[in-house]
Amino acid sequence: MNPRLERLQPYPFERLRALMQGITPNPALPLISLSVGEPRHPTPAFIQKALNQNLAGLSHYPATLGSTELRQAIADWIKRRYGLEAVDAACEVLPTLGSREALFSLTQVLINPDMPQAIAVCPNPFYQIYEGAALLAGAQPHFVNADPAQGFRVDYASVPEDIWKRTQVVFTCSPGNPTGGVMTLDEWKVLFELADRFNFSIISDECYSEIYHDEAHPPLGSLQAAQLLGRKGYSRLVSMGSLSKRSNVPGMRSAFAAGDRNLIQGFALYRTYHGSAMNPAIQAASIAAWSDETHVVENRRLYREKMSAFYEIVHPVMPLEKPEAGFYYWAKTPMADTEFSRLLLSSAAVAVLPGSLLARTAHRLNPGQDRIRIALVGSLEETLEAAKRLVNLITSLQEKA
Ligand SMILES: Cc1ncc(COP(=O)(O)O)c(C=O)c1O
Repeated sequence: MNPRLERLQPYPFERLRALMQGITPNPALPLISLSVGEPRHPTPAFIQKALNQNLAGLSHYPATLGSTELRQAIADWIKRRYGLEAVDAACEVLPTLGSREALFSLTQVLINPDMPQAIAVCPNPFYQIYEGAALLAGAQPHFVNADPAQGFRVDYASVPEDIWKRTQVVFTCSPGNPTGGVMTLDEWKVLFELADRFNFSIISDECYSEIYHDEAHPPLGSLQAAQLLGRKGYSRLVSMGSLSKRSNVPGMRSAFAAGDRNLIQGFALYRTYHGSAMNPAIQAASIAAWSDETHVVENRRLYREKMSAFYEIVHPVMPLEKPEAGFYYWAKTPMADTEFSRLLLSSAAVAVLPGSLLARTAHRLNPGQDRIRIALVGSLEETLEAAKRLVNLITSLQEKA
């Protein structure tokens, strides 16, 4: 067996199950689960129809690169969304089976296992795939804490030079899970300059890019930032977008990697051997999904409605920061996050994710400590009910204090 497997940490939901062992959710109330970030809005009918109408494609082996039509639909979407002048569908875009597998597999491509003490820089809190992908590729993760006092900005400038010298990959997550923070053009400028100086690649995870709350101000994308800063050919950058959250198809496993053509070429070669070509019916459904924005506008409206309603009820007793994007509240807890999450489940039958499970202790601090991640993925009714139960718990704690 590969000894690097032993370095993998238990996944947050495994740790959550262990933490909640022996806790019985209040039996008088139906359980409301806000712990998993899985979209629960219905999949649009036109996407299901495109999938059904293209089942004949199952009789062929699909190409690793995906169909020309799919790569073009993705390139067209990226250009429209980010106002890009040029995206070469043939060389700068690759369909992937969700962004999770792409984050993992691209890391295997970009890390040089012969370089001793290679480092992958990760935000903290973070999506756990970054860490596992780095460890299995033979790199050590170096965590940079997201500072709540700075709008959850990840201060890349704070990373010491001896770390940058060994860095091969930097993961960015913008909009961030769980914080909802969006990287600014200035932050991209700093990071691109560091990438040029220290010769590393950037894997930009943007799977929440379409879940934003001000229709007039979509989050800045990494490819857009590269163009605005005058960088040629998206050098050193691969951006990852996904249909899972945007189009409510987490089960379809459809996403893309786009950017630096040399990196995309290496990734395509790796994928040929890895064997990760997209099912032809899913390719057809993905073309339909990337070509339509109406359903995405409606999807955002549903999230906005829930985010606002939840805020109105909860904020007066438990101060919340409104995120720029995403469907999470990253809320501060009145006691240890693990204890509060257990109490919320036992007394109010509401499941959330304790923040400390989404972060590592780095620089003497676990930035998830005393925070919970509340995923507003259920119905409006469930969201309102959960908000009321949360308020009741906080009020009763305040009365006892
Ligand atoms: C930050 C982040 N990145 C990537 C993913 C994976 O998304 P998918 O593989 O569905 O595209 C998730 C899923 O929850 C996520 O939260």
